[in-house]
Amino acid sequence: MFGNSEAVSSNQTDPHPGLENIVRRHQRNPWRAPLADHDRAAFVEAQRWRQARGAHRPVILDSGCGTARSSVCLALRYPEALVFGLDQSEHRLARGRRRFSPLPDNLLLLRTDCAGFWRLAGQAGWRPWAHYLLYPNPWPKSAHLKRRWHGHPVFPDLLTLGGTLRLRSNWELYLREMAQALALAGQASRLAVLEDGSEPLTDFEDKYRHSGHRLWELVAPLTPPPDQP
Ligand SMILES: C[S@@+](CC[C@H](N)C(=O)[O-])C[C@H]1O[C@@H](n2cnc3c(N)ncnc32)[C@H](O)[C@@H]1O
Repeated sequence: MFGNSEAVSSNQTDPHPGLENIVRRHQRNPWRAPLADHDRAAFVEAQRWRQARGAHRPVILDSGCGTARSSVCLALRYPEALVFGLDQSEHRLARGRRRFSPLPDNLLLLRTDCAGFWRLAGQAGWRPWAHYLLYPNPWPKSAHLKRRWHGHPVFPDLLTLGGTLRLRSNWELYLREMAQALALAGQASRLAVLEDGSEPLTDFEDKYRHSGHRLWELVAPLTPPPDQP
């Protein structure tokens, strides 16, 4: 029920002891698992859409956008930018399309696995201006570290994209781990409590606020590695 969300419960009270090993392993071994055809097709669609609207325009990624409230808000706030709302759930995206119809012209909602999209975008030389990861699934069991974005083999590709990375969560430990993983990769970040009075950017943020949860934001101005010649 709205306003009745449970706080995240985990068998971890501190950052995962295996975090450094896993981050370093993924840094040493680029992720080469085959990508699904539908993720490749989604990226081709994104490339075409971007070309048609102006490849010179700044790009904003809203990864795991759910019902796209934040994507719409960002598209209206930054009309000069091209906003890509990415989610694996067609059901959630369809709800967003219905709710916010007509979508702003500078917004594309795309069904895709973010991991595949980030890898393809990084390889294609995309360098977003900003990257939002708002309330990612926490995967709170310690055994699920590899499912959190900083424990996933795609983490180096996420860094390659660069831009100002902005994560929000109602589970501080997720963001503390992300900050540690970023530091291991030589990237600075800043973790802060999200002000109570600010307008909710997403449906999950709204729900957690109404449930009385404390919310956190981590901001990292990523420095991407130099492009290969
Ligand atoms: C907790 S919801 C948050 C949604 C939205 N950002 C919000 O705050 O309201 C997490 C979202 O991430 C999406 N998601 C999780 N893993 C994903 C992945 N690998 N690729 C794309 N979307 C993913 C889910 O479908 C879901 O919509």
